[in-house]
Amino acid sequence: MSEQTHKTVIAVDGPAASGKGTFAKALADRLGYAYLDTGSLYRIVAWATLERGGDPTKLEDVKTSLPLIKFPLGPEVLKNEDLRRPEVDEAVPKVSAIPEVRAIIRAYQAAFMKDPPGNAPGVVLDGRDIGSTIAPNADVKFFVTADAEERARRRFEQQKDSNPGLTKEMVLKDINLRDEQDRRQAALALHPASDVCVLDTTKAKPDETLEQGLRIVKAKLSVNDNSSGNSSVNKKKIAPKPPGFRL
Ligand code: CDP
Repeated sequence: MSEQTHKTVIAVDGPAASGKGTFAKALADRLGYAYLDTGSLYRIVAWATLERGGDPTKLEDVKTSLPLIKFPLGPEVLKNEDLRRPEVDEAVPKVSAIPEVRAIIRAYQAAFMKDPPGNAPGVVLDGRDIGSTIAPNADVKFFVTADAEERARRRFEQQKDSNPGLTKEMVLKDINLRDEQDRRQAALALHPASDVCVLDTTKAKPDETLEQGLRIVKAKLSVNDNSSGNSSVNKKKIAPKPPGFRL
């Protein structure tokens, strides 16, 4: 059953370091929509479990961290730098494989879509299962992807200063492992579904991807963008493009 409400919902899925977060956040800013990085919710559970010395594969250890996922979480929680530590990267697919964790986070996402911060007219959620499970009736669905080597290069650039021992090869190994772990979970579509617009960012600059995405959103919805600071949304739809098209 869809958890969608009357708010416009844009789903952005894709693998690690594909640029989905950069794209989703910029898209939300331009449209005046609320943005949720759903990976950070799983990261909060993983981080809190590790902080308590717990085993991220064990429900009884993870359970004590679940009450932390209470709607609405403040930006200071969602943007906690510790959520991006390598040990959290390693633990997060383990906690995300636990159905009880997914259920709590699913409820959080439903509350966010129903009652977005600032009463925004729409929401952009990025993650792995947004278009397939969390908002199957989303107004627009994107799948943002890039070659694994390019994704590893980007993640390495982000992490090399805070982690001097890191090499590109280590990052590539981690990315491939996380893709594999995510792929093993039936709930996480690491491949685009038929009604999804694919954005390949391997050779594209963030601005180019954003403009591509905005063109798609404008074609699917009658939306004014927020580049001038005034956002407004006219919910009247125009004819959608055929499923699965690429620009
Ligand atoms: O930024 P990056 O893609 O590396 O990771 P993320 O979006 O923060 O997600 C971290 C992990 O959380 C993923 O590898 C998945 O195991 C899990 N996740 C999930 O299961 N479902 C989501 N909607 C989002 C993330």
